[in-house]
Amino acid sequence: MSDWTICVDFGTAFSKAAAAPAGAWSRFDPALVRPLMLSGHDPHANAFLLDSAVFVDDDRLLFGRAAIARAAELNDKKRVVLRSFKTLLSVSDLDRALNTNAATSIDPHRVFQMRDLIVLYLAYLLAAVDRAVRADPVLDGATVRWRYAAPAWRAGDSAGSHESILRLFGEAEAFRLAAGRRLMQSNGVALSFVTDALPKATASAQPFDMDLIFEATAAASYLSVGLHDSAAHLIVVDMGAGTTDIAALARQGARVTELDTARVTLKQAGDFMDTIIANRALALAPWARGPAMQTQLWALLMRQMRDIKESLFADGRAVLRYDSRALTIIMNDIERDTDFRDFLRALSKAYDESLDIVRDDAVARKRSEIDAVAVGGGAVAPFIQALIRHKPKRGRVRVTARNATPKWAHDEAFQGNLAPVFPQLAIAIGGALAPDGMAATAMGASRPANDRSDTRAERD
Ligand SMILES: Nc1ncnc2c1ncn2[C@@H]1O[C@H](COP(=O)(O)OP(=O)(O)OP(=O)(O)O)[C@@H](O)[C@H]1O
Ligand SMILES: [Mg+2]
Repeated sequence: MSDWTICVDFGTAFSKAAAAPAGAWSRFDPALVRPLMLSGHDPHANAFLLDSAVFVDDDRLLFGRAAIARAAELNDKKRVVLRSFKTLLSVSDLDRALNTNAATSIDPHRVFQMRDLIVLYLAYLLAAVDRAVRADPVLDGATVRWRYAAPAWRAGDSAGSHESILRLFGEAEAFRLAAGRRLMQSNGVALSFVTDALPKATASAQPFDMDLIFEATAAASYLSVGLHDSAAHLIVVDMGAGTTDIAALARQGARVTELDTARVTLKQAGDFMDTIIANRALALAPWARGPAMQTQLWALLMRQMRDIKESLFADGRAVLRYDSRALTIIMNDIERDTDFRDFLRALSKAYDESLDIVRDDAVARKRSEIDAVAVGGGAVAPFIQALIRHKPKRGRVRVTARNATPKWAHDEAFQGNLAPVFPQLAIAIGGALAPDGMAATAMGASRPANDRSDTRAERD
């Protein structure tokens, strides 16, 4: 039996990972959970978040923050840093999408397919996990069982694409072993090494042995044991960068079951908000004339988007400085955007339907309390906070909106790094803690149960 379970949360914007010892679920103690410091060596990054980014430079391949910084420094609109590539995994014809050549703006040398770049990033992610594990005296040398978290994609069918993803992780692991310390160098890996070693690693790779756990299920699993005095029923919304996921759990004594008909994934989240906000900002800047200036402003907006959203969500407005000008973006304005309203309508509908399922289960079990929690980077958004305060239209149950961040996340040991990003880490932590029966692969890798998740608000 493995001593520890490590759950890797390969995120659209940030990757995260956490470890939990075997049995931690049934004798839960926060001190047993170990969120991993994937960026622990970078004084400028949050220690627990690893940027999901790859940049193909002239003769090197850069990852994470270094990739983003290099692209910004070059400031060349013909060269872009590859981000949000996880969303590729949700397409229905996954193999075909993976075998597509990367665009020349991403790979000017024209040597990589999308599959290669994803494998290389996953190798970097596994190397960061390995470094964090080795730096932790409790984890170093332990036997480990692996899980990865993924959304309950519909079209792509995450359970169906499980085999393909295990192959990608397997190739990534083979490359990581070949590359050794090179992957963690701040100046990345020489392209000549990559083009030589990657085909060999691919040829010798074995599928990585990992279980799949749905993202919101993972978050819900943690919250159901990790929050003090939690109700027997729990509904969770996870708004990340690529998807917004809903899941619900019911607890009966020590047994926790997922109400899988309540599980929904929408393909709109933080990235979708970013585009709406940036478009709105451009519309507010008639002085940004001509494609060159617009491209420059767009790049600046995207670089500062997390901070812009933080101000927008917290204060209802954000100010962007550009040369000597100041651009004020107002949340009320964003909320008037047609695409945003479509998204919010679809999300509210999906959430209310899920909440009805939870309510029915609560009533059937003679329970009257439901906890609602938001996780992911978008948890702070006012419309998500409003969502978790929805009441079911019928039935005498009380919904309590709970904060995802537990007290122990403020512990001095984490040096103030953990609490601000805890909602983003809840998936990795819950994924590591969850009992076996909650892994999607344990449920027979069944298709995500939900037909209702056709509710979508596509942009185009
Ligand atoms: N304090 C904040 N205020 C507003 N937005 C934030 C904040 N922190 C993070 N975000 C946004 O949250 C998103 C990242 O959240 P998260 O790490 O949960 O996503 P992810 O796991 O990478 O995505 P996904 O789960 O969809 O694959 C980004 O869009 C980021 O801009
Ligand atoms: Mg996520």
